[in-house]
Amino acid sequence: MTVNIPLKQVVDNSYDISIDALPSLYFDTKVAIVTNPTVSKLHLKFLLSRVSAKELHVIVVPDGEEYKNQTSIDIILESMFEHRFNRKSMLIAFGGGVIGDMTGYASSIYQRGIDFIQIPTTLLSQVDASVGGKTGMNNKYGKNLIGAFHQPKAVYIDSYFLTTLPSREFGAGIAEIVKMAVTFNKGFFEFLERADLKDSEVLQDCIKQAVQTKASVVAKDEKEHGIRAALNYGHTFGHVIENETKYKKYLHGEAVAIGIVMANETSLKMGFMDLKTVDRIKKLLEKYNLPTKYNILDIENFYETFYLDKKSSDTKITFILALGLGNVKITDECDKKLIISVLNKFGNK
Ligand SMILES: NC(=O)c1ccc[n+]([C@@H]2O[C@H](COP(=O)([O-])OP(=O)(O)OC[C@H]3O[C@@H](n4cnc5c(N)ncnc54)[C@H](O)[C@@H]3O)[C@@H](O)[C@H]2O)c1
Ligand SMILES: [Zn+2]
Repeated sequence: MTVNIPLKQVVDNSYDISIDALPSLYFDTKVAIVTNPTVSKLHLKFLLSRVSAKELHVIVVPDGEEYKNQTSIDIILESMFEHRFNRKSMLIAFGGGVIGDMTGYASSIYQRGIDFIQIPTTLLSQVDASVGGKTGMNNKYGKNLIGAFHQPKAVYIDSYFLTTLPSREFGAGIAEIVKMAVTFNKGFFEFLERADLKDSEVLQDCIKQAVQTKASVVAKDEKEHGIRAALNYGHTFGHVIENETKYKKYLHGEAVAIGIVMANETSLKMGFMDLKTVDRIKKLLEKYNLPTKYNILDIENFYETFYLDKKSSDTKITFILALGLGNVKITDECDKKLIISVLNKFGNK
C-alpha cells in the first residue's frame, strides 16, 4: 500500500528591496536586531531612531568571518528563547554579509522558520549578500557549508552606512559588482567604467543597478539549479587564492578580483573573450585599487584545490567563464593542460 502526500505548492517568496534613506519602521511583534560591536558602535543609535516594535531587543555577536559559526548562532537562538520569541517574532540583520548570513540562518531554523529583514551596512552586503535568500555559516570543513535558502521579508539599503566603511571593504564590494556587470549586464559595465562612485548619487545608482542585476538572476533561479551559479564567476579561482593565503592576505572580494582576471585569461585561451575585453576588465578592477596580480606558490596544488569547490565533482571542475561582456558560460570541459597554462601566467617568478 502506498500513501501519497500531495505537496505540490506554489510559494510566493517575493519581496521588495528599498534603495533609499532608511524609513521609519514599526513592527507589531517581538523583534531582535542582530549586529556586532563595530556596526553597533557606529550606527545602532541611528537605527534605533528609525526602528520600533512591540518589544525590541538587540543581540550582539562578535565581529568577523571566524565567528560565522554555530557558537554565534547559539547566542542568537538562546537570546530568542530567553525573550520567548514566537513564530510571529522577527529578526533584523544589521551589519555586513556575516551578520546577514547568520541572522538569515537563525531565522530559518528558529521554530522551523520565522521572518527576517536585512539592513545591510557594507557595500558587498548591500549589492550581493542581502539579496537572494542564501543564508549560512562556516564549520571546520569549510565556508558556507551549512545553511538554508530563506528569503528575507524585505531589504532596506541605505548608502549612508557606507560613509564609515574602510576603503578596502568598499573595494571588496566593487569586485562583486564587477562580477555581476561582466556576466549579466554590459550596459552596467560601461556605466562602471565612466562612474565616479565618490559622488553619492552615482553610488546610489550603481547599487540600484547591481541589485537589479542580481535580483533578475535570482528570480530566474532561486535555488541555484542553473544560471544563478554563474554569479560565482571569479570565485572558483578566488576561493583557491583565499585557501592558499589562509584567508589572511586578501578580503574575499580582493581574491575574487584576482579570480576574475584568472577566469578571463581562461576565457581568452578558450576563445570566449578578446584581449581588449580582458584588459578593459582588469583596468576597471584597478580603478578601484583591487589586486589583479598574484604569484601562485604551487601550481599543481592550486589546481588540485579546485576540487574542493562546491560546484565541482570528484572528477570534474566547474568553471564560470564570461563570454565577452554580458554573457556567461558554466562549463566543466576545460582541459587540465589549458588551465595549467593559464596558472603558469601567474606562476611564481
Ligand atoms: N548570502 C549570500 O548570498 C552571500 C553573498 C556574498 C557574500 N556572502 C557572505 O558575506 C560575508 C562577507 O560580507 P562582508 O564583506 O559584508 O563582510 P563582513 O560582514 O565581515 O563586514 C566587513 C567588516 O566591515 C564591518 N562593517 C560593517 N558595516 C560597516 C560600516 N557601515 N562601517 C564600518 N565598518 C562596517 C564589519 O563589522 C566587518 O568588520 C561572507 O561571510 C560571505 O560568505 C553571502
Ligand atoms: Zn563573493
